[in-house]
Amino acid sequence: MAVVSMMTTKGGAGKTTGTLILGTVLAEQGASVCLIDADPNQPLMKWAKDANIPPSMTIIGDVTEENIIETIEEQSAKSSFVIVDLEGSANLSTGYAITSSDLILIPLQPSKLDADEAAKTLKFIVRQGRSSGKEMPARVFWSRVPAAYVTRSARDIGTQFEEAGIRFLEARIVEREAFKGIVNFGETLEKLADDQVPSLENARANAAMFVAEVIALLKELRQ
Ligand SMILES: Nc1ncnc2c1ncn2[C@@H]1O[C@H](COP(=O)(O)OP(=O)(O)OP(=O)(O)O)[C@@H](O)[C@H]1O
Ligand SMILES: [Mg+2]
Repeated sequence: MAVVSMMTTKGGAGKTTGTLILGTVLAEQGASVCLIDADPNQPLMKWAKDANIPPSMTIIGDVTEENIIETIEEQSAKSSFVIVDLEGSANLSTGYAITSSDLILIPLQPSKLDADEAAKTLKFIVRQGRSSGKEMPARVFWSRVPAAYVTRSARDIGTQFEEAGIRFLEARIVEREAFKGIVNFGETLEKLADDQVPSLENARANAAMFVAEVIALLKELRQ
């Protein structure tokens, strides 16, 4: 029912990791979740081959600009949450996906290069909104940040973005081995074990906060 797309033209920003965190936590909570792998590299499909996938999760690959709109429509009729993991570029396919989304999430690592790409992505979203006459709710979230402090560059970028009216999620995704562990061990955060990755409890708490904020935001946007 709710469609969330992860988008930024910056490669390696945390789209796939964000998709996996959001998707696996929701599925572990019992929600029906469909992950759509809209990246030609098919990272989610590769993950799905060996992973211990929660029973309420489905993963769909091989989407193209020809079928992405229909795929999102079809899956959102079947699942409570559809999460689209996009490739790191602004093209027809990403345009169609974000126009079909209730919320667009943009991961941002605290560096100028990443901030430039996030700004480019936000402009693309605004253009898509104008041409489709639809509202395009988007939020930036900090990705792969240190747990204990906010760096000077993060503070400066955050201030610039906020001055430009760009909104951030409050929850930040911290750099944690456990988030890599979802892919490395093919397990959800719930099923990973303490001897596989350090600070598992902190990672679970971080993921839960992120997911709770996304759910609350989706509810708010629906009203
Ligand atoms: N919070 C995090 N903690 C630890 N590692 C992370 C975190 N977020 C991302 N990574 C790692 O950074 C790399 C890039 O992340 P990811 O694949 O999620 O980015 P992406 O935006 O999907 O990249 P692409 O543009 O290639 O699709 C991966 O190796 C991933 O494991
Ligand atoms: Mg990716």
